[in-house]
Amino acid sequence: MNSSASKTLNLTLKIWRQTGPNNPGAFKLYDLNEISTDMSFLEMLDVLNEQLITRGEEPVAFDHDCREGICGTCGVMINGQAHGPENATTTCQLHMRRFNDGDTILIEPWRAKAFPVVRDLVVDRSAFDRIIQSGGYVSVNTGNAPEANSISVPGHIQQQAMSAAACIGCGACVASCKNASAMLFVSAKVSHLASLPQGQTERSKRVLSMVATMDKEQFGNCTNTGECEAACPAEIKLTNIAQLNREYIKAVLFSHDWHCYLTSWDKWRPKINHETWRSDFESWVNHRLRRQIVK
Ligand code: SF4
Ligand code: FES
Repeated sequence: MNSSASKTLNLTLKIWRQTGPNNPGAFKLYDLNEISTDMSFLEMLDVLNEQLITRGEEPVAFDHDCREGICGTCGVMINGQAHGPENATTTCQLHMRRFNDGDTILIEPWRAKAFPVVRDLVVDRSAFDRIIQSGGYVSVNTGNAPEANSISVPGHIQQQAMSAAACIGCGACVASCKNASAMLFVSAKVSHLASLPQGQTERSKRVLSMVATMDKEQFGNCTNTGECEAACPAEIKLTNIAQLNREYIKAVLFSHDWHCYLTSWDKWRPKINHETWRSDFESWVNHRLRRQIVK
């Protein structure tokens, strides 16, 4: 943590302003004085917006909800880093004591084709929702809830599933990746359910469908740079991507759901017939997994 002798900061903010998805945007400079080091980053933006409204100017649009690091809505790029300089911390949990008096802070929205800018710092992250939706349901028995201890899950598997389930869907992994890849996000969702007994029934169908939707939404491929893991506020590990790759290959090679892959991936579907699907699949695997380590 940077130390600052003063309890208040005088700052220059350089903020991306854009009035709509199809309008050009530009950075605008704002001077902001006497900001308490105890404020959160979003409270600092609240102060700026109060001043802008008082002056009759448009406030800066930014997403937020829980302000507790739970909902994943508040992400912005701060000085080129997703969620700013603090490790494993969302923008709403970042405090101004992390900055120094006289700093210029660059604030901009997530930059990714799959996350178009809606206004100022707000982006449309509904592509993530569509990936989740494509994962479908989890089969459960109807009737009374089963006794809680009737399905035993080993401790280390519980831990693995809970760590993957910590993903808050913020999109920092996509924004920080040079390929705008959503592999960390998708791998967290796939690993979470693939690890637990409750997720087994739709295991192969889920991974095929989510990966197909990820590609359709124009997220880039993973080239193992690891920037996503470094930026992730929920500390989702790259090992989940390795598990995603294993789940995917197993689903295609050994499951009855591989036809889902043939029918859901638009780019390759026209090229595939029953005689040639295996060589087509090998080309596809080479494309998808190039430079990736499949453990
Ligand atoms: S994997 Fe991490 S960075 Fe990516 S959406 Fe989930 S919480 Fe955010
Ligand atoms: S506002 Fe919910 S995580 Fe930041």
